[in-house]
Amino acid sequence: MFRPRPIVEPNASMQALNWSPASWRAYPASQQPAYPEPAQLDRVLRTIASLPPLVTSWEIESLKAQIAEAAEGRRFLLQGGDCAERFDECTPGAITSRLKILLQMSLVLVHGAKKRVIRVGRFAGQYAKPRSEDTETRHGVTLPAYRGDNVNRIGFTAEERRPDPELLLRGYERAALSLNFIRSLIDGGFADLHHPEYWDLDFVEHSPYAAEFRRIVESIGEAVRFMETISGAPIGHAARVDFFTSHEALHLSFEEAVTRQVPRREGWYNLSTHMPWVGLRTARPDDAHIEYLRGLRNPIGIKIGPGMTPAALLRILDILDPDREPGRLTLIHRFGAHGIAEGLPPILRAVQAEGRTPLWCCDPMHGNTEKTADGLKTRKFEHILAELEQAFEIHRAQGTIQGGVHFELTGDNVTECTGGARGLSDADLNRSYRSQVDPRLNYEQALEMAMRIARRIG
Ligand code: PEP
Ligand code: CO
Repeated sequence: MFRPRPIVEPNASMQALNWSPASWRAYPASQQPAYPEPAQLDRVLRTIASLPPLVTSWEIESLKAQIAEAAEGRRFLLQGGDCAERFDECTPGAITSRLKILLQMSLVLVHGAKKRVIRVGRFAGQYAKPRSEDTETRHGVTLPAYRGDNVNRIGFTAEERRPDPELLLRGYERAALSLNFIRSLIDGGFADLHHPEYWDLDFVEHSPYAAEFRRIVESIGEAVRFMETISGAPIGHAARVDFFTSHEALHLSFEEAVTRQVPRREGWYNLSTHMPWVGLRTARPDDAHIEYLRGLRNPIGIKIGPGMTPAALLRILDILDPDREPGRLTLIHRFGAHGIAEGLPPILRAVQAEGRTPLWCCDPMHGNTEKTADGLKTRKFEHILAELEQAFEIHRAQGTIQGGVHFELTGDNVTECTGGARGLSDADLNRSYRSQVDPRLNYEQALEMAMRIARRIG
């Protein structure tokens, strides 16, 4: 694996911590692409390092404060989006429908939980994927695995699978375009609670849950009008909602290039996203990913699942959050419907015994992936729901708070997961299966999931 020169030279305060944006380079880094032309990678990274950031430290600190409240049960985190964003889906339609479904789900949750919801998208930078195999073999031909649009191309030719550093720049630009559009939509009133008509997806009327959703929206609209009547003034800003971004901090030389200091604040921020997370495959105490994340001021997500021992997790927590800063850590567990009853309680007990109070979040997607007879990756709605329901119960029994959920979903009408109110079967999957990586809940399944959770936490 190639390691270019550090983008930032270490200074005195970093040496005190013995950390710099490049200090991960002294640790084993799994899941990094092997670039054939290191000098070209170096050039691209320097260009990215010189470009404006995508997010600000104020937004990051605001998210951290909100996560701290969610850890205490005063807010609820909704994190969701594609498994992997695709460059060719950086389109106005795809961005608005993604925003709409997250907004709709969050309203359902606000209504059910009577709590404010933090919306965090898996978007505007979710372009690099960990893979279980470095290579893929088809009909006797072996090529590098597809690692996300930031790294290589999906076509099965040697040319397309060659890691291309230019893609990092293309990805950074697309993340900026996506975020620019999201911010404009929100500033322009797209997410204004006075105008729920903007959020209807075309097919909301066909959903078996349409009527229930409309009732929820109407009652939120009434609440807004009621508040305005008694306060005698428009509630303005309070009637708007915001969105934060997140992606897996996987590609470390890219993440290093977007790690910056800002005036009048201590420390370093990853300014390409509000909330980077470390995936299950790279969440190991001695891995370079943990070293990299240690020095950031951002709130960090950690995926937890089968194979991670309580002892390893406690070490990671000590490395990433020695000061026990409120809002710093979100622990995202993903054991699967059949593994959570055994896997989660020892983790909760170990963290609780340390007196730590991270935000606990359930990802009911990644432990429930299976293959159909035709070899398609899918997930069953009932398994996803079953894991979530068990998670709420296990946390309640343990005295911890499940303050969030993490989904792979899309606002489109794909057929990738089976089940849900319409009872999609394996045979339906071929109709509109678009994911190149993990299967996502479609629009109706996602809305239904939100309704089921809202009843649970209400
Ligand atoms: C993901 O979130 O897409 C992912 C790869 O998850 P995990 O690290 O939990 O397997
Ligand atoms: Co995934």
